[in-house]
Amino acid sequence: MAQIIDGKLISAQIKEELKEKVSKMKSLGVEVTLAVIQVGADPASSVYVRNKKKACEFIGIRSLSYELPEGTSQEELLDLINKLNERADVNGILVQLPLPSHMEEEKILDAISPLKDVDGFHPQNVGALCIGKQGFVSCTPAGVIQLLKRSGIEIAGKECVVIGRSNIVGKPMALLLLRENGTVTVTHSRTKELKAVTSRADILVVAVGKPRMITEDYVKEGAVVIDVGIHRDSEGHLCGDVDYESVAPKCSAITPVPGGVGPMTIAMLMNNCVESVKLQG
Ligand code: GUN
Repeated sequence: MAQIIDGKLISAQIKEELKEKVSKMKSLGVEVTLAVIQVGADPASSVYVRNKKKACEFIGIRSLSYELPEGTSQEELLDLINKLNERADVNGILVQLPLPSHMEEEKILDAISPLKDVDGFHPQNVGALCIGKQGFVSCTPAGVIQLLKRSGIEIAGKECVVIGRSNIVGKPMALLLLRENGTVTVTHSRTKELKAVTSRADILVVAVGKPRMITEDYVKEGAVVIDVGIHRDSEGHLCGDVDYESVAPKCSAITPVPGGVGPMTIAMLMNNCVESVKLQG
């Protein structure tokens, strides 16, 4: 039977640890503040933002909420970011994605001070990760590393295959596995013989964005499978990029959807907020 990696439980442990840290910081007179900006009212974004604010409240992080109308101009948003960059009482700045189509995402994300970029999306932080310097790491891939470590799964020396090369998940995931001394292969839509490559993996991280695409024939017997995808199928059930029913019996460990990688993203965001105080000090 595969070990089911319980992201809900592990994220709860991390949040408890952070709550304790924040309480100690408070007793020393240090407060942690996250500014969350949402432009427009995309329903999925509203759910994510609400959950981020709830996590802040649980841990004892002060959250400042900026809910801007859909028609906000890029200049107005840049002005707000600049003001928050300058405020000494704001440690983290998060602009919820996606942004309305009249805004240039890259320009907005680049405007956030790298010292307050708790999402880890700024080129300076991506570059720091690439060359092993200190900086913020993108939350979902950082969460995957925590899931592996806290489940007692060794990464060093393992064949790690990542499916997907996005800037937010695939690329930082590959860099983090490499930092942990894994032997890393990144696959994508142009990869030839995908099944042959993924079947080599001791650790397979799937961030392909297609519901239940990865079936048992992509997976080696005894592999660890991490599913980053989340979708709602035609019957309204949540599912991942991995066909859990066929893949789980073949694995040594697997993340479920929901309750696997998903809850880790917010836990790692909270971790980045707490760490931001050190980076700024
Ligand atoms: N939209 C979906 N996921 C994320 C995330 O991790 N950070 C931000 N800022 N927006 C998102």
